Amino acid sequence: MDKITIVGGNKISGEVYISGAKNAALPLMAASLLTDEEIKLYNVPFLSDITTMANLLVSIGTELVVYESKSTDLGGRTLSLTSTKIKNTKAPYNIVRKMRASVIVLGPLLARDGEAEISLPGGCAIGTRPIDLHLSGFEKMGVKIKLKDGYIKAKIDGRLKGANIDFTTVSVGATENIILAATLAEGTTKITNAAKEPEIIDLCNCLNQMGAEISGIGTSNITILGKEKLHGTEYKVMPDRIEAGTYAIAASITQGDILLKNINADIMESTLDYLKKTGSEIDINEDENTIRVVGGRTISPIDIETAPYPDFATDMQAQFTALMCFADGESHITENIFENRFMHVAELQRMGADITTEGKTITITGKKKLTGAEVMATDLRASVSLVLAALAIKGETTIRRVYHIDRGYERIEEKLSACNANIVRTKANNV
Ligand code: UD1
Repeated sequence: MDKITIVGGNKISGEVYISGAKNAALPLMAASLLTDEEIKLYNVPFLSDITTMANLLVSIGTELVVYESKSTDLGGRTLSLTSTKIKNTKAPYNIVRKMRASVIVLGPLLARDGEAEISLPGGCAIGTRPIDLHLSGFEKMGVKIKLKDGYIKAKIDGRLKGANIDFTTVSVGATENIILAATLAEGTTKITNAAKEPEIIDLCNCLNQMGAEISGIGTSNITILGKEKLHGTEYKVMPDRIEAGTYAIAASITQGDILLKNINADIMESTLDYLKKTGSEIDINEDENTIRVVGGRTISPIDIETAPYPDFATDMQAQFTALMCFADGESHITENIFENRFMHVAELQRMGADITTEGKTITITGKKKLTGAEVMATDLRASVSLVLAALAIKGETTIRRVYHIDRGYERIEEKLSACNANIVRTKANNV
């Protein structure tokens, strides 16, 4: 397993090109199962989660061609996905265990082939993360579901039926799965209490380009008029707002000055608002699609609660926790979306952070001197919070199990090195 070593203390300053969004690319790739024509996706990030989804689609029968980007600046790749025939409707445990988001193929497989078998995702580092909302939605659309030998076996005779689906909890994955399925259903599907994340808007826009008829996009009431067939298209994946927010914090935590390129501020308003409250200067250039973040001389403490979009994203919680370790006072962060999403706290404490946990709220007393340490990545966002803390510590930190970071951050050490960070990856065989 690779490790990353950081000697912190440098101001993170320079330019970072923001990659395509992993969380948009994954459902867009799954959407390719809905048609036998070619789907060409541009600006796909080079990440292990994308490879996992690509492997899953290939095992299902999708023909995949990958075009590398010629420019080193524009890291994104182009994927051509053609699912002429579904050869296999099973998503096995060895793939689903690596990436829970594999469950997103369930909707397209049911819509296209009337059956799907997918390993139960099981527990994961950030809580139990059930998929009951996905399954009860499909049942409303006429699907019969059985749980056997750790697998969900789903089947429908004929086409899926349009239905009224009212989610009891706002779920990104369930909203996407039902939308995907409903595009080929017989009749109309109405989703209430749908998630409104920009990645869902991206998915709906692409599906409409493929011939779907989705309205209410970006609201909590989405209507999908089912079609008999969808067709191929070309689509550019939206930028990754979480990657952008993470690099913004790299500047804030080191009093640096960073220019984020290829990112529109309107998809990360909440992150930028909180960064301003901590004392960072934010300069948005809408015409150029750039955001400049300049860290303040001191970091002000803040109180944050995670909530569904457009409120503060749970995927930015760990990074803000790291930032607040260096704030001038006491901050409180409440995690409302996932249980057990404070895995980074124990590792930050090993670096000297003063954090106490009470239920779903942590209290961080900042301005304590943190020191470099050997720490361990535990999940995607938790691990990047350790990178951020390490950048601000005058000393050496080693982060192990960086495969978690590679799931969601493309070429992180290259991007940070280009911004004055002292960061080195040691490959597995040298660790
Ligand atoms: C997606 C994102 C993830 C982000 C999360 C919340 C992807 C690939 N991942 O995950 O990065 O952190 O949204 O913004 O896009 N829930 C249920 N039953 C279900 C489904 C969800 O109870 O059937 C609960 C979850 O346990 C959680 C909440 O709903 O408490 C939100 O989860 P959800 O939005 O579904 O997260 P994901 O789609 O898995």
